[in-house]
Amino acid sequence: MDKINIGKTAFINPMPVVIAGTHSNEKPNFMAVGWISSVNLNPPLIAIGIGSHRCTAKGIEESGEFSICVPDASLLEKTDYVGVVSGNKVDKSGVFDLFYGELKKAPMIRECPICMECRLYQTVKLPTHTMFIGEIMGTYTEEKYLTDGKPNLTKINPFTLTMPDNNYWSMGDPIGKAWNIGLKLKQK
Ligand SMILES: Cc1cc2nc3c(=O)[nH]c(=O)nc-3n(C[C@H](O)[C@H](O)[C@H](O)COP(=O)(O)O)c2cc1C
Repeated sequence: MDKINIGKTAFINPMPVVIAGTHSNEKPNFMAVGWISSVNLNPPLIAIGIGSHRCTAKGIEESGEFSICVPDASLLEKTDYVGVVSGNKVDKSGVFDLFYGELKKAPMIRECPICMECRLYQTVKLPTHTMFIGEIMGTYTEEKYLTDGKPNLTKINPFTLTMPDNNYWSMGDPIGKAWNIGLKLKQK
C-alpha cells in the first residue's frame, strides 16, 4: 500500500492527559498537559513540554517544583477548562480541592486518582516550549485505585488526547501482557 506524507505531524498518540500544578504569582495554578513522558528510571524522571510564555512555565522556573495529577473522565470539563484559560488572567486556584505532600509549591488535586509531586531536575529551552524534567519525590493515590498494590488503569479511568483532531478518548480494555506477548516470536 502506498504511504502518503501528511506533513510534520507529531502523531504520538494517544497521550495521557494530565494536569500540571505549581505556584504562580504566589498562588496555586493548574494547566492541562498532553505532552508528557517518563524519561528516566532511576531517579524517576518525567518530562513535560510547556509553552514558554505560559503562567505555569514561569511558576515552575521560579518555584523549582511542580505536580502532575492524572484526572479521571469525571474531571473532563475541569481539565479542559484549566487548558483554555491562563493563570495570567484568571485565578484557577479554586477549581480543585487541593492537598500537599512534602513539597510546598507542588499543589496536588484531591479529586484526581493519582498525583505525583516533582522537584525540577533540568530545564531544556526549546524554540517555543520549555521541557521541564522533574524528579518524582512522591506519588499519592488511594487503595481503591490499586490492584495488588499497583495502579490499575481501569480503576483510575484516565482519558487520552489526540492531536491535531483535538479529541478526548476513554481507555479500552487491556489487550495483552507487555514484555511477554512478543516472546512467542522469539521462540520461533
Ligand atoms: C487537553 C489539553 C492539553 C494541553 N497540553 C498542553 C501541553 O502539553 N503543553 C502546553 O504548553 N500547553 C498545553 N495545553 C494548553 C494549556 O493548558 C493552556 O494554554 C493553559 O491555559 C495554560 O495555563 P497557564 O497559562 O495558567 O499556565 C493543553 C490544553 C489542553 C486543553
